Amino acid sequence: MGRQEAAPASQGAVPAGTGAASTGTAGAGTASGRPADGVPAVRLTGVRRVYGQLAAVAGVDLEVAEGEFFTMLGPSGSGKTTLLRLIAGFERPDAGSVELAGVDVTREPPYARNVNTVFQDYALFPHMDVLENVEYGLRVARVAKAERRRRAEAALDMVRLAGLGGRKPVQLSGGQRQRVALARAIVNEPEVLLLDEPLGALDAKLRQEMQFELKRIQREVGISFIYVTHDQEEALTMSDRLAVFNQGRIEQLGTPVEVYEQPASDFVAGFIGVSNLLERGGRHFTIRPEKIHLLADGETAPDGSHVERGRIEEVVYLGMLTRYQIALEAGGRLTAVRQNLETAAAEALEARGRTVNVAWRETQTYDIHNENRAGTSTSP
Ligand SMILES: Nc1ncnc2c1ncn2[C@@H]1O[C@H](COP(=O)(O)OP(=O)(O)O)[C@@H](O)[C@H]1O
Ligand SMILES: [Mg+2]
Repeated sequence: MGRQEAAPASQGAVPAGTGAASTGTAGAGTASGRPADGVPAVRLTGVRRVYGQLAAVAGVDLEVAEGEFFTMLGPSGSGKTTLLRLIAGFERPDAGSVELAGVDVTREPPYARNVNTVFQDYALFPHMDVLENVEYGLRVARVAKAERRRRAEAALDMVRLAGLGGRKPVQLSGGQRQRVALARAIVNEPEVLLLDEPLGALDAKLRQEMQFELKRIQREVGISFIYVTHDQEEALTMSDRLAVFNQGRIEQLGTPVEVYEQPASDFVAGFIGVSNLLERGGRHFTIRPEKIHLLADGETAPDGSHVERGRIEEVVYLGMLTRYQIALEAGGRLTAVRQNLETAAAEALEARGRTVNVAWRETQTYDIHNENRAGTSTSP
């Protein structure tokens, strides 16, 4: 009782009612069925995993709703993979509990958990064709042959590979192999799909394409996805909610908009986008680069904005945008971006070394109180 009531606003809403079932109530869902209404697909309570002196996962409380696209975002070594392995059952926690659909599975082996994992190095069986690869899990589960075939073909259809069932993995592109791995994971109809940096091996264009595909597939199959990435853009574009990890803890939990516009700590402000942290008059705040106006000579600031002088230290031309780094006379540095509407590249680059006025609206700044981190477990 009361687990949910102190949730800070920035934590983002779990659909109403998820706090109703108390910890340890078995039977709220079944191992194979969907959870009862309002029971989260995954609930972690005080989960810790220690390697020697290092707490890879240092106390995590988390609820992922049924049908939610949830992302764990954080730098390398922040504990994301360890937490996924704890959910899948490949690791046992040193403290805390893991519930799936309301059932405590902390002591259960991986095969007894209704989850599937897609890893970055999605090793397919090279000697089997695509259809056999996708059917493999069903064969192990002794599903009859005709049923197996039907479900594998439906899964291939879902990932847009219908007709390629007879190919061997070497006859596929990287993106197609990734789709086979996905089909293999969804064919068992798991309650939760865990994806550990599944697009890491693909080039930028294919990644973007697969991001849309993954969202579509998740909507169509309607199961919870827990998606691990270190790529902030990926996290912002795909997720219903995301958790930002740092040193085995959740720094912030919220919707993409909340986490981007209202970072809970310096770490989150810096990891998601550009930090732009300033101290002025006892306030510690951040302002996003796209909210800063660089004023041309003689240009007046928009009404009600705050103006400061600074020197342009660096200019980076990015095609669509130009990025400026500005050292402010009153102290601190800001990064500002400007769309290249009329400015030519040469003109933009010439700005280096100039003194300029920069302006922003107070309403576009966001105060950071580093002590108010959301989602960080203080309980054992
Ligand atoms: N089996 C292990 N033995 C010892 N240390 C480990 C083991 N697995 C992970 N770690 C350590 O735990 C920390 C978190 O690792 P990991 O969960 O893989 O992070 P991420 O996936 O966010 O990069 C890292 O410092 C890593 O070196
Ligand atoms: Mg990892």
